Amino acid sequence: MNNSVINSYEVFARFYDPLGFNLFSLLIVPYLEENLNQLQFRGRDVLDLACGTGSTALWFHQAGYQVTGVDISSHMLSQAKKKTQDEGLRIPFYQKDMRELKYRNRFDLTVCLFDSLNHLLIYEDILKVFHGVHKALRPGGYFMFDLVTPYELSSQWNDSIRKEANGDMSLTLSSRYDKETRTARLTGDFVSLEKGKETHYIQSFQEKAWTRREIKKALGATGFECLKDYRCFSFSKPTSKSYRVFYVAQKQG
Ligand SMILES: C[S@@+](CC[C@H](N)C(=O)[O-])C[C@H]1O[C@@H](n2cnc3c(N)ncnc32)[C@H](O)[C@@H]1O
Repeated sequence: MNNSVINSYEVFARFYDPLGFNLFSLLIVPYLEENLNQLQFRGRDVLDLACGTGSTALWFHQAGYQVTGVDISSHMLSQAKKKTQDEGLRIPFYQKDMRELKYRNRFDLTVCLFDSLNHLLIYEDILKVFHGVHKALRPGGYFMFDLVTPYELSSQWNDSIRKEANGDMSLTLSSRYDKETRTARLTGDFVSLEKGKETHYIQSFQEKAWTRREIKKALGATGFECLKDYRCFSFSKPTSKSYRVFYVAQKQG
């Protein structure tokens, strides 16, 4: 397993929902539903890959699907488990590296949301994930995911600083984009205030800007048909200035 990814979410996990990073997974639900309606999706078994703190998995469960969540970070999964237990629900969550999936013909839909695939920094890892998802899906199963674009990383994540705060928690997230490697390094200064004393935790992680061409090539090479690629949250074609692209792919064969 990639320890740097595990470590980068160790502290982030506690701050994730309180600082609003779970909002994406809540906002994308109606969009996912609309995509599923358009496909007249009738499946039942859903894999939420890189499920994080489990907000989307929770929605799938409450909407009547049999959802399984996997994530590499035990800390993110602890939050997901706590959240579902608090709601009196039972959802299977497993600690797994998405590059090493072992499922066979098990799911009708796999989702991988909120930049999770941008965390993969080498093309072979993208292929490994797509290959594993292909095996995990039943014939005709769907794979839906989003990725931030090279335009987003180069224009919004270069020398940028974002600040979030909620009660006793705050975060200053600074990022720098390297054009040559198409990789952004994000460093978070997480601060929690306990009994009037500030504690700082510094953690960093990287995200790589994959192009649509690379992603479509990887889908084709692993047995998927890319049915759609949209400007995320819309049903229109992405442009060179789109920030995030949403892909809908289907398992062939
Ligand atoms: C930005 S969070 C998104 C979480 C969730 N999908 C959401 O919408 O809130 C990215 C997630 O990817 C997970 N992740 C990164 N690399 C991974 C890997 N190789 N295998 C499984 N999960 C991974 C991280 O632990 C983290 O929970």
